[in-house]
Amino acid sequence: MTATHRYQFRNHLDQLGPLQETLDPITHTELADLDITAGQTALDVGAGAGSIARHLRDLVGPTGKVTAVDIDTRWLDPGGVLEVHQRDLRTQPLPAGSGSIDVAAARCVLEHLPNRHALLNQMITALRPGGWLVLGEIVYAPVVAHAPRSADTDLIIHVVHAILDVLSAHGVDLHWGDKIPGILLGNGFEQVRTRWVAETWTGGSPGCRLFADNAHQLHHKLLREGLSHQDLDRFAELMTDPAVLVRGYQFASITARKPH
Ligand SMILES: C[S@@+](CC[C@H](N)C(=O)[O-])C[C@H]1O[C@@H](n2cnc3c(N)ncnc32)[C@H](O)[C@@H]1O
Repeated sequence: MTATHRYQFRNHLDQLGPLQETLDPITHTELADLDITAGQTALDVGAGAGSIARHLRDLVGPTGKVTAVDIDTRWLDPGGVLEVHQRDLRTQPLPAGSGSIDVAAARCVLEHLPNRHALLNQMITALRPGGWLVLGEIVYAPVVAHAPRSADTDLIIHVVHAILDVLSAHGVDLHWGDKIPGILLGNGFEQVRTRWVAETWTGGSPGCRLFADNAHQLHHKLLREGLSHQDLDRFAELMTDPAVLVRGYQFASITARKPH
């Protein structure tokens, strides 16, 4: 893998929308448990369509400051105390001074980037002593599914496994979320806590729309995994069918506090 390793998805709201709908309740709960107060400074790394940056803006209020960074800033509206910076974080540094940040978030970003470890170190440096990291990553888990026809159940399991395999083969570290807590503990972080969350996703739900979009975006690579156009069309149909249940992507949600 090189520094030019390419992010596997194109940003658009068919992907970022259901991702936010699925994960925001988890991240909001994490943020509610931290002592974020008005006037603080926050950083959102790889902010996507900006729901977490906007939530942080609400938490820090008009006297705070939020910096959102992404290689693709089309979906991010700067305004008020929310600043938006376009950066390729594989090669460009975070726009945050050392010790300047009270809460630094990155969700479903670091696992995609070849320099994930160095970027995590940059986030740690940007935090003030006592500041919080709020990280989230999709981590590998076996797929479980149910559809009325057993051939459809097998197909769903095959496609979702193939999505995970394609991402891994293209440099996404689906075990990175499991490694982060140990790395933070090794850096002296306190109150390191991980919640591993996986929920049932029903056909038509935001989670199944996310699966459908991921399969659509990876279509050509999934064909090379032995799936056919017909399989992928059927998978897209199944993801809208309320009689279908799938174990959703497993999400590792991690919070930890930089030592004083
Ligand atoms: C899966 S999305 C997650 C978006 C958001 N954090 C969320 O959870 O809703 C990954 C984000 O990482 C951004 N990204 C990918 N490669 C990047 C890079 N090299 N530098 C900066 N951002 C990058 C993408 O543009 C995208 O917005």
